[in-house]
Amino acid sequence: MERSRVNLLIPGPTPLPPEVREAMSTAMVDHRGAEFGRILRDVLAGVAQIFQTTSPVLMFAASGTGGLEAAVVNVLSPGDRVLALSCGMFGERFAAVARAFGAEVIVEEAPWGCGIDPQQVTEALRRHARVRAVLVTHNETSTGVTNDLRGIAEAVRGSGALLLVDAVSSLGAIDLRADAWGLDVVVTGSQKALMGPPGGVFISVSPNAWEASKVARMPRHYFSFAMARDQLASEAAYTPFTPAIPVIYALAVSIPMILREGLPARFAHHRRLAEMTRTGVQALGLELFAQATLDERLQRAAQLGGALVMLTFGIGFVQYIVFGLVIAGIGCQRGLATGPGATSVGLSTTSAVVASIVWIVVLDGLFAVLLSRWGL
Ligand SMILES: Cc1ncc(COP(=O)(O)O)c(C=O)c1O
Repeated sequence: MERSRVNLLIPGPTPLPPEVREAMSTAMVDHRGAEFGRILRDVLAGVAQIFQTTSPVLMFAASGTGGLEAAVVNVLSPGDRVLALSCGMFGERFAAVARAFGAEVIVEEAPWGCGIDPQQVTEALRRHARVRAVLVTHNETSTGVTNDLRGIAEAVRGSGALLLVDAVSSLGAIDLRADAWGLDVVVTGSQKALMGPPGGVFISVSPNAWEASKVARMPRHYFSFAMARDQLASEAAYTPFTPAIPVIYALAVSIPMILREGLPARFAHHRRLAEMTRTGVQALGLELFAQATLDERLQRAAQLGGALVMLTFGIGFVQYIVFGLVIAGIGCQRGLATGPGATSVGLSTTSAVVASIVWIVVLDGLFAVLLSRWGL
């Protein structure tokens, strides 16, 4: 069977667009020459846009796990205390890498199928002093759970700990803002949402992480951030060791495709596919292993909010026509907004009550204005 006909539905490597596959058969060039340097620079600048960072992005020829190792050994010293957030196999792997290099690893777990609650991180950082770094898997591929990375970053901010992120299966598919969210080291691989073959890891490093790397004492050579940065910054822009040239050729095509489509459209596309898959699986009568993430619950809450807005408007209209009144049924909306439906989609009782009161005041006001405009 021709391999390209295989309908590959694993999290990565993913099927590649034909033009990306073709690019990989381009003839080899001198990897320290000017031509390759230009291609590499463009690819890294494009990948930095997907990381949403203005810091230079580094590249190593390795699989995703190599990137996790690079993150750990460049900013930590043996004996450093590390808080490893784990809710699946890849969380465990990140912790194992840190342990292998002599970090004192404290594991903070959530049950598999659930995400890490940012509040849990706040409390763990309160319980454990001198945590040098927090390790987190953005999208836990083994269970299909996406952690609330932004919330976790907020919980870590101000604690003095660095935040190291495994974004191997998320970057390019799920919003991740390295600079805006204060993520110190973010690792991704070429073979998943970046639409390339396996063989390359990309790593963004914050100014704080660069500072930490100056005093970090874990052994490193191949994965040295400083060496990679210095050689990339040189005139010809090359990597310290022979790069995976076909991976760069492929990404020179796939990254512009991603950027042309635009990150918001790209993320929405992936969300739609995920939702379709979940709906399909449930339609088969199967249960989802992953619990709805906070994001999804909030989205559903927003949809419910839209339905409530329409309902409020409808109730107001009926009241006006039938009773000549422009007040909404507060009891009715409270009941709806605070009932089991609302709380099960992530609205707390307080926020649901506040939301329903806001709707009543704002919508009834709007409704009155519209009706008077129409001369009713
Ligand atoms: C979240 C996550 N982290 C790490 C890895 C490990 O990557 P690799 O197998 O390329 O070493 C994977 C691979 O699937 C992953 O999904």
